[in-house]
Amino acid sequence: MLVADLISILISCWGVSSMVVTPVAGSSCTITDYSEVSKVVSSCTKIVLKSFEVPAGKTLNLNLQPGTFLIIDGTIKFGKSNWAGPLVKIQGRRIKVSGTPGSVFDGQGAEYWDGKGSQGTKKPVLLRVNAHESEFYNINLLNCPLRCASIGGSDIFLNGWTIDVSEAGNLGVNTDGFDVSGHNMTIINSRVFNQDDCVVVNRGSDMFFQNIYCKGGHGLSVAVGIDPTVYENNVVSNITYQDCIVENSINGIHVKTVKGGGPGLISNVNYNRIRMMNIKEFAIRIHQDYPSNDKKPVGNVPIDDLKISHVEGNMKGPRSSVVEVLCASGACSNWKWSDISVTGNKLPCSMNYKPSGFSC
Ligand SMILES: *[C@@H]1O[C@H](CO)[C@@H](O)[C@H](O)[C@H]1NC(C)=O
Ligand SMILES: *[C@@H]1O[C@H](CO)[C@@H](O)[C@H](O)[C@H]1NC(C)=O
Repeated sequence: MLVADLISILISCWGVSSMVVTPVAGSSCTITDYSEVSKVVSSCTKIVLKSFEVPAGKTLNLNLQPGTFLIIDGTIKFGKSNWAGPLVKIQGRRIKVSGTPGSVFDGQGAEYWDGKGSQGTKKPVLLRVNAHESEFYNINLLNCPLRCASIGGSDIFLNGWTIDVSEAGNLGVNTDGFDVSGHNMTIINSRVFNQDDCVVVNRGSDMFFQNIYCKGGHGLSVAVGIDPTVYENNVVSNITYQDCIVENSINGIHVKTVKGGGPGLISNVNYNRIRMMNIKEFAIRIHQDYPSNDKKPVGNVPIDDLKISHVEGNMKGPRSSVVEVLCASGACSNWKWSDISVTGNKLPCSMNYKPSGFSC
């Protein structure tokens, strides 16, 4: 298929009529080998990535010019190296990136997984995005060695992604799906099969996650307090998870603050219409004693205005409990929960702070 045809098909699929389709400058804007990347990226604004392999220990660095339209139309693999990565870095302003069906960034995790995640041999993270006013459609990530997609920046829209680390069995530790930080970020219509957080927000505001399907991991998360000193890096506000499904996972909903980490604040976090199947530990877990989980919470990151509504589903396994809430004294306030109906738990729920609208 001609590059120009591909671009016009993708544009017409999106219904973007305002974008001008100009003839593409031939093969110079199609990348078929790693050696072509830097020249094409610096000289073209319509780029097609075909199948090739990135040499071991190198980042596929897609530092795009403003307004660039990038199409991923092949299988991109990476030589094995025990390093930190990222294997792929995408940066830019007003960029659009779209994957064709069957295209994939294949992290070849089987060459790294050891069941120890970041504690084991060194493993590269797969994808790091840092972008502004940008859109990313139908991108497929396969077999991440460690964390899959770290998404940062502002005014970012992701639609139709699939992250699949299911081949790892139980060896794919720390394979977070989406790690999201920034402002005005949207992720919709996406699927994650992994073994750590499905989506996790560390800092930022105005985020919207809808129609996300999570399987095998640790749930829909907010994790704050990781920066030991800088308050701004530990502030999360106005986050919504809506119409999501979490299946065969440790937790469904998970809000955790780093005990004794940096100062911060979580406010206006909303979970609405979350369906859960076969959750193993907690359908809803909110705790301020992460990561030691020693039941001695610390309130360095207060949690204010946490709304949870319309949660339904079932649990499975001997350690299952519908809710754990473990707050430091005075560090949780103004929570409103309603319509929570989860069955099949083996252990009772436990809460040391009571939201309005729900009790054990
Ligand atoms: C938020 O980001 C979207 C792109 O996802 C953009 O269309 C919208 O204008 C942004 N909103 C604001 C208030 O900047
Ligand atoms: C909260 O974030 C959403 C985007 O997810 C935005 O549309 C809305 O305006 C924000 N609300 C406030 C109060 O800023």
